[in-house]
Amino acid sequence: MTPPTMTFRPASVAIVTGGESGIGRATAIKLGRAGVPVVLTYFKDADAADAVVAEITHAGGQAAAIAADVGDEAAVESLFDLAERRFGPVNLLVNSAGLNMTGVMIEDMALAQFDRLIRADLYGPFLTCRRLVRGLASAAPPHDGRIVNISSIHENAPRPGGVDYDAAKGGLAQLTRTLALELAPKAIAVNGVAPGMILTPMNQSALDHPDELRRKQAAIPWGRAGTPEEVADLVLFLLSPLADYITGTTVTIDGALSLTVAQGA
Ligand SMILES: NC(=O)c1ccc[n+]([C@@H]2O[C@H](COP(=O)([O-])OP(=O)(O)OC[C@H]3O[C@@H](n4cnc5c(N)ncnc54)[C@H](O)[C@@H]3O)[C@@H](O)[C@H]2O)c1
Repeated sequence: MTPPTMTFRPASVAIVTGGESGIGRATAIKLGRAGVPVVLTYFKDADAADAVVAEITHAGGQAAAIAADVGDEAAVESLFDLAERRFGPVNLLVNSAGLNMTGVMIEDMALAQFDRLIRADLYGPFLTCRRLVRGLASAAPPHDGRIVNISSIHENAPRPGGVDYDAAKGGLAQLTRTLALELAPKAIAVNGVAPGMILTPMNQSALDHPDELRRKQAAIPWGRAGTPEEVADLVLFLLSPLADYITGTTVTIDGALSLTVAQGA
């Protein structure tokens, strides 16, 4: 049996950052296939972004790709300007763009390293959320705004060498909760999704090394890593009318990995 397709409010327009790879890519494709016009950002790989646009348009959807560093204020403005000109007011936003932890201990971490990660993983969502809210303020109601910030189980679970990433994701969790409170009167819902280990280029090393993959998957109670499509299905649910009244929460999707702390103590 074919699973039912998620439906979205008419006139919805989505921006998906990091849409050329991994979770962002899977989300953009599913949204596009569900009939929502999507503007996806890419950072370096224009060919990969074009392939996502082609896949969506081939399926009968509408999509465009634009290069944007999400930590750059002017780039985020241009991104939304383009999306609004092409498709209309943007009411759905998925912040998936992000860099992984450097693994560098604090005594060796250059400020530029810390800054680069905070810019991508925390400034990025700040800038895009702000622009979505400003754009909807001048759009005709109903707004039905939905923001999903892709965080990480490391918004709560710290790791040595992860001060850049874990601080950014911890900050993103509070950005999500604060904006949910601030934007509820405007009917804009803001939620987070906290993945565990998902098989995307962010886990390239495990994808390339079967022993590493086996070892890491053995630590996950569900017995395997997740797929970008599984995360995308959750994101689509949170963007859809089925999730009306859900705001200010972060949904963990990790096969129970984050529950394994302090076992056997
Ligand atoms: N894969 C995992 O196991 C996992 C686990 C927890 C959280 N996450 C989070 O999920 C999100 C998506 O990651 P993914 O797994 O799909 O990895 P990915 O590497 O496939 O995708 C990351 C995307 O972010 C883009 N990007 C990086 N810096 C950027 C910048 N400054 N401006 C614009 N784009 C930028 C990259 O170009 C890429 O498209 C990230 O925020 C990541 O922290 C992933």
